Amino acid sequence: MPTRATLKEPRAEGRRKDSRLETLLFRLEAQHICLEWAFREIADRPGIVFEMGLGHGRTYDHLRIHLPEREIYVLDREIDCFADCTPPENYLLLGDIEDTLGAAATRFDRQVILAHADMGSYVNANNIATSAKLSRCLPAVLAPHAIVLSDLPLELAGTRSLPLPPGARKDKYFLYVNGPW
Ligand SMILES: C[S@@+](CC[C@H](N)C(=O)[O-])C[C@H]1O[C@@H](n2cnc3c(N)ncnc32)[C@H](O)[C@@H]1O
Repeated sequence: MPTRATLKEPRAEGRRKDSRLETLLFRLEAQHICLEWAFREIADRPGIVFEMGLGHGRTYDHLRIHLPEREIYVLDREIDCFADCTPPENYLLLGDIEDTLGAAATRFDRQVILAHADMGSYVNANNIATSAKLSRCLPAVLAPHAIVLSDLPLELAGTRSLPLPPGARKDKYFLYVNGPW
């Protein structure tokens, strides 16, 4: 499975501030902190959860443990997860994110209160394309005051960007809240 990159050009080898190890460490740290923050934020708000990017199922597993009462729909183009992290079939939306989010807009009609996108890879061109698809298609499913967490920066109509919670390093994850505010 491909892993991560930012949308910026990678720095020349030898001139990067963070090592590859630190890049991964700081991203996972920010991801974990942002998820904990989001669990508290949505605690009193109804709605479903979208997990976009099943991968090995690590963040899906985290979501289902911490949000046991929520319906969690998982969007990916393939199943490549730990066997015990396979979502129930009726909660799987398989296909390219542009198609599954497009269909979800009709099916779920702005019920998504938490959308978590973990879809980046080391391939910068893919990240730019994925970011554009998410930016275009995600707003149509978001409930009022929905929280969006993403490993890639997004431009989501109707949302505003929020600073990361304390402890999460800047630009290691991206946080948005849907209007109205
Ligand atoms: C970094 S992995 C997700 C890691 C996962 N959240 C975890 O914790 O194990 C990214 C996932 O996004 C999926 N993905 C990337 N681009 C996609 C697209 N355009 N449509 C659907 N899925 C996509 C890949 O198939 C991959 O499983």
